[in-house]
Amino acid sequence: EADPRLREVMGTIVKHLHAAVKEIEPTHEEWLTAIKFLTAVGQMCTDWRQEYILLSDVLGVSMLVDSINHRRPSGATENTILGPFYVPEAPRYDHGTNICLDGKGEPLVVTGRVLDTDGKPIAGALVDVWQTNDDGFYDVQQKGVQPDWNLRGVFTTNEAGEYWYRSSKPRFYPIPDDGPVGKLLGALGRHPNRAAHIHFIVSAEGYDPVITHIFSPDCEYLDQDAVFGVKDSLIAKFERVTDADRAQALEFDEPFWSV
Ligand code: DHB
Ligand code: FE
Repeated sequence: EADPRLREVMGTIVKHLHAAVKEIEPTHEEWLTAIKFLTAVGQMCTDWRQEYILLSDVLGVSMLVDSINHRRPSGATENTILGPFYVPEAPRYDHGTNICLDGKGEPLVVTGRVLDTDGKPIAGALVDVWQTNDDGFYDVQQKGVQPDWNLRGVFTTNEAGEYWYRSSKPRFYPIPDDGPVGKLLGALGRHPNRAAHIHFIVSAEGYDPVITHIFSPDCEYLDQDAVFGVKDSLIAKFERVTDADRAQALEFDEPFWSV
């Protein structure tokens, strides 16, 4: 039986697709190239590699859908893309734990607070973080090469809403570019790199969770992130720490606002 929402959606898509084809005036051969590309994208997909999501990401569609579905109240930390490398149930750690289990990269101290939109600290909030190692890979991309759970962990805020942990400074890394989407980027003269970031999911009872990143302010790819995930408000301050114990570490104190 007919599905009214699907009729509406397909009507809009067909209207814009026809407009694009009229403007492009492709040859038969060019249209076949497009069909072959979409076929290759499908053939690349496995349980752990979703090439269509990658395509949606590099075309900026994922960020659009994300912003439509996660409109944030004013004063709340902005959200950005989840990405394909989140793993639930990461180990829970005490404050100060070093989650960099392979010892690579520049030492980093991450500190911050979780606040409500009135600026009041939220105690007992969960701060779930993950990032790549200094070679630019997530642990799940290098099973058996990196220690399990490398650069992932969950921290719980104290009474003042604070959390802190040790890690390594994030660096830029390429999204998987060995498939048809990578080839497309190459043919367009685009690079596959994501600006250096740390992923966060912050949640607390009675509040909307926020899925976001913190970006490194000195990354050369900040203004050309391959999946358009950068928002100005998510670029953190990283400062040299002078404390002897944290020598040569970097630190930011970026409050998270969650509602
Ligand atoms: C991320 C990785 C991707 O391959 C992608 O398409 C989007 C986001 C990430 O982990 O940040
Ligand atoms: Fe990432």
